[in-house]
Amino acid sequence: MKHKTIIILGSSRPFGNTRKVVDYLISQGNDIDLISLSDYKIGYFDYELKNENDDFHPLLTSILNYDTILFATPVYWYTMSAQMKTFFDRISDVLIGDKKPLGRQLRGKVMGSISCGSDAEIFEGFKMPFEQSAAYLGMTYLEHVHTWVLSDQTIPKTVESRLKSLLNKL
Ligand SMILES: Cc1cc2nc3c(=O)[nH]c(=O)nc-3n(C[C@H](O)[C@H](O)[C@H](O)COP(=O)(O)O)c2cc1C
Repeated sequence: MKHKTIIILGSSRPFGNTRKVVDYLISQGNDIDLISLSDYKIGYFDYELKNENDDFHPLLTSILNYDTILFATPVYWYTMSAQMKTFFDRISDVLIGDKKPLGRQLRGKVMGSISCGSDAEIFEGFKMPFEQSAAYLGMTYLEHVHTWVLSDQTIPKTVESRLKSLLNKL
């Protein structure tokens, strides 16, 4: 059965700020599933595919059941988390050799990205790796939504409305 949307959460804190934002999105939408990269053992990309038997391939296979993939990452040092970057690096596994048919299944899917930083500012260029990766993989890039959580742990109204607007596009 095809599911609609999956969120891939890549945070060093599976129940931190990025999760709070993602949970809000899920609560306002319907048919949105979530996986946290912290629940999987995913090694770095290796040119000799030394990590091919870790959790990456089964995870990617299950993600291919979805039409829309939303990547949700905290801002760590002006860019995506290491966990998320490793996930993207590992997509290279399925662009070469006998795993190519798996990689090709990403074509035609929709990608979006969500960042969660310490405040409202997000530097130019943050979304570029997502947007360009989508283009390279033959996916349609939806948009990037930047978010943050206030010191009292609430989500600002501006962020809520950005997330609702994203939901309307799914
Ligand atoms: C290693 C590290 C680097 C960070 N770098 C940035 C940064 O460059 N820009 C920013 O706005 N916030 C930065 N922050 C703050 C986090 O983006 C922010 O606290 C975010 O909400 C954390 O989400 P999380 O709870 O899912 O980890 C950094 C936090 C950490 C732990």
